[in-house]
Amino acid sequence: MIKSTPGLAAALTLALCAPLVWADSNSAPHLERRGAATQLVVDGHPFLVLGGELANTASSSAEYMAPVWPRLARMNLNTVLVGVSWALTEPAEGRYDFTLVDQALASARQNRLHVILIWFGSWKNGISSFVPDWVKENQARFPRVRLRSGKSIEVLSTLSAVNRDADLRAYAAFMRHLRAVDGEQHTTLMIQLENEVGILGDARDRSPAAEAAFAGPVPDALMGYLARHGDHLRPALSQVWEAAGGKPAGTWQEVFGAETADKKTGLVTDEIFMAWNYARYMDQIAAAGKAVYPIPVFTNTWIIQPEDKGAGDYPSGGPEPHVLDIWRAGAPHIDINAPDIYLPNFAEWVARFNQNGNPLFVPESRGDAGGVANAFYAIGRHQGIGYSPFGIDNPGRLVALRPDAGEAGPGDVTAQPLPRGYALLRDMTPAILDAQARGAISAVALTAAGRQSEEIALGDFNIKVDLRRNLRNPSQVPPFGYALVVGLGPSEFVVAGFDVQVTFAPNTPGAPIAGLARVESGRYADGRWVPTRVLNGDDILLNYHLDEAAAANQSGSGLKFMGDAPTLQRVKLYRYR
Ligand code: DGJ
Repeated sequence: MIKSTPGLAAALTLALCAPLVWADSNSAPHLERRGAATQLVVDGHPFLVLGGELANTASSSAEYMAPVWPRLARMNLNTVLVGVSWALTEPAEGRYDFTLVDQALASARQNRLHVILIWFGSWKNGISSFVPDWVKENQARFPRVRLRSGKSIEVLSTLSAVNRDADLRAYAAFMRHLRAVDGEQHTTLMIQLENEVGILGDARDRSPAAEAAFAGPVPDALMGYLARHGDHLRPALSQVWEAAGGKPAGTWQEVFGAETADKKTGLVTDEIFMAWNYARYMDQIAAAGKAVYPIPVFTNTWIIQPEDKGAGDYPSGGPEPHVLDIWRAGAPHIDINAPDIYLPNFAEWVARFNQNGNPLFVPESRGDAGGVANAFYAIGRHQGIGYSPFGIDNPGRLVALRPDAGEAGPGDVTAQPLPRGYALLRDMTPAILDAQARGAISAVALTAAGRQSEEIALGDFNIKVDLRRNLRNPSQVPPFGYALVVGLGPSEFVVAGFDVQVTFAPNTPGAPIAGLARVESGRYADGRWVPTRVLNGDDILLNYHLDEAAAANQSGSGLKFMGDAPTLQRVKLYRYR
């Protein structure tokens, strides 16, 4: 599923900043290992998703969407995440209606946008609310999850081949249609399969079929995967397995234990069982779709909330980080397990998901000024494929968090933080994608209430990013700030920053102090750096106490980022003693 391009890093170094042309320009959008990063490749070019997700049912009304599409283009998005409802796609069994998909593709094309289509099939936020009414009304044919209480809930059981095949047929028909209408143009980049799956209200399905499977052996396919990947399993899973004796085979409870093994992660045998069954169900659907039209497929995850006590408070069996090995084992046709992150500790969550070869794409998060920080961080720190705030059709969700930044008027959405941040990322995209592949990119996100300073290493320098300090009153810092740093060479960097200051220290033997040889502010145009001003004096002075600075091997100068939106600076460093 992930193609590899050997020797790419070297080629990219030569092609620095220049748009890349690829031979394989007719293939469907796909993920490709390019040097140090896994990237989305569209029409032969790597692609960075500057996205936004519509509210769940927005796409069911062309009238509602008519003004939204051009507005999203004006907001500098390049991709819109659009829901596709199984119920509206297959209103009667075997009769398909793709009018809404066609409308979305036509509108996207008119506005030079791409889409990622979300298949709201068997589950949406765990619940089977988007299944057709002929499925809802026939519980005998389409079995549901039963809770410990014996009650059933409006959640299709994963333990039913009838459920899976009904979803699979509709999904395969949808993908067949997509290939027919979009197989050449590639407006659609990826598919999100289902939405935030897992069982709410219990840790496990207790329907008769689920009870029988749970009493039976752990499938050989899963045991084989665990044995093969034993050294790399995430700690929570290997601890549970080891605590139950590290058995190579047995029933679910024999292999993973009979009770809650880890209160903190909520990882219990029930959750592992559900993760396997969701993964298998969805893998077969993903495989059927890929057999027809092989574009990348990802899942999204309702992540664990601080107040949750265990699986079932959050959807049990969803692709949470502590069961991602189970998902990898059960769903090889799913390319990415993605997080939906509305919690403030964004950095921790992206790190948990971007492990064991799981590329990072964030399909849902916030779209305000803090969301812009998230986007820069995901793309710079984790070679993110892209970012997408939820509810993008509602401009009210995008207002600035910063009290002093004010709110943009409803008529001028482009003045809001997200469109401004996306404009910078859009212009910088060739440099970002090139640096991701070269492993020459990083990012820092800081808050006054949390981490106010962080050091990263890139090229021959350690780069320290601090919240911007007031020269006269250094204890005064802004509420948050961020920086994305691209290494152009061992001592030359481009920094995209907001409300931070940046200093440098050599990390290789030799003269210990980094001086600023030249600093420019500027922008990217057509993939090339365009200087707009040569910065000096007050623009770069951080500390007049040169004795103190010299004692700390500092020059006293650095980069300063102020203003009400992220900006770019390019710096060339030299060394002295
Ligand atoms: C997460 C879901 O995945 C979305 O579809 C939507 O329901 C949002 N929550 C609402 O905040």
